[in-house]
Amino acid sequence: MIVRRSPAELEKLRRSGLLVYEILHKLKDMVAEGVTTQDLEAAAVKMIADAGAKPAFKGYASHASKTKYPYVLCTSVNEEVVHGMPSAKRKLKPGDIISIDTGVQLNGYYGDSAVTVAVGEVNDSVKRLLKVTEESLELAIDKVHAGNRLFDVCGTVEKYIVSNGFSIVREFVGHGIGTSLHEEPQIPNYIDRNSENPRLKPGMVLAIEPMVNAGKPDTEVLSDKWTAVAKDGSYSAHFEHMVAVTDNGPWVLSRP
Ligand code: MF3
Ligand code: CO
Repeated sequence: MIVRRSPAELEKLRRSGLLVYEILHKLKDMVAEGVTTQDLEAAAVKMIADAGAKPAFKGYASHASKTKYPYVLCTSVNEEVVHGMPSAKRKLKPGDIISIDTGVQLNGYYGDSAVTVAVGEVNDSVKRLLKVTEESLELAIDKVHAGNRLFDVCGTVEKYIVSNGFSIVREFVGHGIGTSLHEEPQIPNYIDRNSENPRLKPGMVLAIEPMVNAGKPDTEVLSDKWTAVAKDGSYSAHFEHMVAVTDNGPWVLSRP
């Protein structure tokens, strides 16, 4: 069942979304040569605590990994697709790209968003990977209208990514969000003909998160049980926003 949130609940999700936006905004500004992914983690821990919120990822147990995720951020560098773990040993260097993904819980309502940024100068094909992935999310957001169906969202990402020559990660998907981090429906970045195609209704809140590889789509999870990487070592980009369906169209909760 896909939960539909009341206007008062949407306001709470909005507060969580804006907190995540502010955190990501500050972390983006910190990204530079020599900064470690642990530096970003430490800054995020402080911002979440200062806001009186709780981290959504730390302590989260996934079925796949059977361990609790130990950090408030996922920092996925270069060929890391998602769930990269912050480390004091991972110094960012020019030419890297980093996906910063974080989630919070405020007054029982979750926020979740991610952005991928370049460190220093990156080559044109990497720039295009970031641009196309972000654009695919914007095009998907434009489909979040009452009366449209889930496949309109999923298929929009798929079509745009494939037509631009990149590949879509299949093992990880977006999700509904509300009083849990992950709620129904699952939101693949492709049309999954074996799953349902519900009609979008006001009050539904979708976390849409395209994960896109420059090379082949295949991923594997490292021995740390979390870090998902592109098997062929190609760069991977990831952007995420939480979007509410309203009578007036899409409301992106995770940006002002
Ligand atoms: N944005 C990701 C997701 O929605 C990150 C989750 S990290 C985890 O699944 F640790 F919480 F799993
Ligand atoms: Co998410």
